[in-house]
Amino acid sequence: MYSRIAGTGRYLPERILTNQDLEKMVDTTDEWIRDRTGIERRHIAAATQTTADLAEQAARRAMEAAGVTPADIDFIVVGTTTPDVVFPNVGCLLQERLGIHGCAAFSVEAACSGFIYALSIADRFVATGQARCALVIGAETLSRITDWSDRTTCVLFGDGAGAVVLKPADEPGIVSCHLGADGRYKDLLYHPYGPSRCPGPVFGDDAGAFIHMKGNEVFKVAVKTLEGLVEEALGANNLEHAAIDWLIPHQANLRIIQATARRLDMPMERVVLTLQDHGNTSAASIPMALDVAVRDGRVKRGDLLLLEGFGGGFTWGACLIRF
Ligand code: ACO
Repeated sequence: MYSRIAGTGRYLPERILTNQDLEKMVDTTDEWIRDRTGIERRHIAAATQTTADLAEQAARRAMEAAGVTPADIDFIVVGTTTPDVVFPNVGCLLQERLGIHGCAAFSVEAACSGFIYALSIADRFVATGQARCALVIGAETLSRITDWSDRTTCVLFGDGAGAVVLKPADEPGIVSCHLGADGRYKDLLYHPYGPSRCPGPVFGDDAGAFIHMKGNEVFKVAVKTLEGLVEEALGANNLEHAAIDWLIPHQANLRIIQATARRLDMPMERVVLTLQDHGNTSAASIPMALDVAVRDGRVKRGDLLLLEGFGGGFTWGACLIRF
């Protein structure tokens, strides 16, 4: 038995923050942001909106697209680094909102690879018959952990949520998932505080409770790792580059995405790009890009998709999917 994606959905908060808006907030220009990242605008959650709010909207849209109701869902996993609270996890918060009880519900913390990690777990449960209808979500409110006075990071991030419903199938579906991580890079991209490592005299209280990133160094490792990752996913299935219909990458930086596409000999027309409109939404970026391409008709049933992501940890992952 295999799992397949039965429906997709996304939700973006109403408020749009453009590069021109950022020009008024920090010493930057629209030209610099577009040249270095490809980003033009991003969505920002309202003050009262949390990650679970975004996740709920995306989940409801994915369920509608899949033709299922909350009563059908028997497994919930949410990739997020910006949960509403330490616990209950976002999966449980979502379960309560959907009015369903009893099924496994949890979140996975793997930064920008969170959705790929979540999808690979849900795939195993559905493919082995332990779940029959799984909700897999990537949802983030990165704006809450962004230093809006730091031009090197604040121009990059945005908020949003994407979701898919996974159901059993006789044929793949999810063809294969490939995950990796290397904690040696923990100091290149991180948020310094959490419940167990608090700001204050013990751990230092001057680091700033925000995303910290050595962008240049992250960039180099990301390009190299993603090159190896896409080859691993194709090699494991004896597939040539040309077999891939669509590359659906994590939307961190246009230049990183172009480098991966070059490695795959893929024209950029076969790459789904949303970062110009969404910015980097971490775990939400891949399922949102998938939903955009499904709903605008680019991705069709039977297409072979390569989803890939890379983020803080470092973590990385790819899923090869027959849609
Ligand atoms: N506006 C204008 N100038 C800026 C800005 C800005 N917003 N930000 C930085 N600069 C300046 C720097 O100060 C620097 O100036 P200097 O040369 O006088 O020192 C210059 O621009 C170049 O800075 P770099 O950091 O070298 O710029 P780079 O070309 O590397 O682009 C970027 C920076 C966009 C962050 C890039 O490195 C990148 O995308 N890195 C990877 C990000 C990523 O993939 N993250 C992983 C996922 S995120 C997650 O997991 C949460």
